[in-house]
Amino acid sequence: MSLRNTPYRYGRVAQALHWTVAALFLLAFVSVYVRQYLTTDDTTPNWVALQAHLSLGLSVILFAALRLWWKLANEAPANPPGTWWEHLAAHAAHWTLYLLMFAMPITGYLGTGVDTDFLGLFTIPKFEDTAIHAVVVQGWLGLTPEAFEEPVDWLHKQLGEVFVLLLVGLHVAAALYHHYVRKDDVLTRMLPERREAAPAPAVAAE
Ligand code: HEM
Ligand code: HEM
Repeated sequence: MSLRNTPYRYGRVAQALHWTVAALFLLAFVSVYVRQYLTTDDTTPNWVALQAHLSLGLSVILFAALRLWWKLANEAPANPPGTWWEHLAAHAAHWTLYLLMFAMPITGYLGTGVDTDFLGLFTIPKFEDTAIHAVVVQGWLGLTPEAFEEPVDWLHKQLGEVFVLLLVGLHVAAALYHHYVRKDDVLTRMLPERREAAPAPAVAAE
């Protein structure tokens, strides 16, 4: 299978990036809900779950940037058979997902008042401690850190709980619909190519 996309399927790089981002999104949800529902405030597990959410969430932006670059440098496989409005809906959904891959980490970072201990490797200072915050938020906008964080945090939670769940849900449903109802290759072209089993060696006649 080729590294680059072909007119018939996504290449290895696009697939690896797609499934890495999908896994990071899933783990970002798991970590934040573990923190909220399975741990007690101000305990070590609660803090570890929050830090996992911050690290996983921030790493999305790196993979999203790589994905966008790779998408722009690579032609996507041809549209499957369908009407013009189905193609339009699919493209709109994909571009909105790209938008969310950036909007989630950005709103998360801007609305969080704690440093990120990135995978235990190094510290990313909270937005409030950066020069941009001092110049833009406190200087130009004249806001306190709390007054700025509150609406951004609200936006992050609404986007995560409503938009991401809705859109990813529709996206997965569409992939399954193509595979099981239309029986086309839309799902399989985003999956590693299956090797055909080698034919059994012919048994020589005695
Ligand atoms: C793909 C990336 C991300 C996704 C999908 C995501 C999703 C979510 C979701 C679903 C919630 C829970 C909303 C609720 O019900 O209260 C949440 C909360 C939160 N997120 Fe994110 N997030 C991401 C990235 C980030 C980043 C990069 C940060 C900060 C650096 C961050 C900081 C937070 C914080 C502080 C909360 C509140 C946690 C709590 O109250 O327990 N998120 N996020
Ligand atoms: C179990 C979860 C998922 C499944 C089964 C799935 C399935 C697929 C499939 C089959 C395609 C190819 C569509 C085509 O050929 O036209 C695709 C593309 C895409 N998926 Fe997913 N996906 C999942 C999760 C996600 C998540 C979490 C995101 C982002 C937040 C995402 C974003 C995208 C984007 C942007 C494309 C367009 C690819 C491109 O042209 O770059 N997917 N997905």
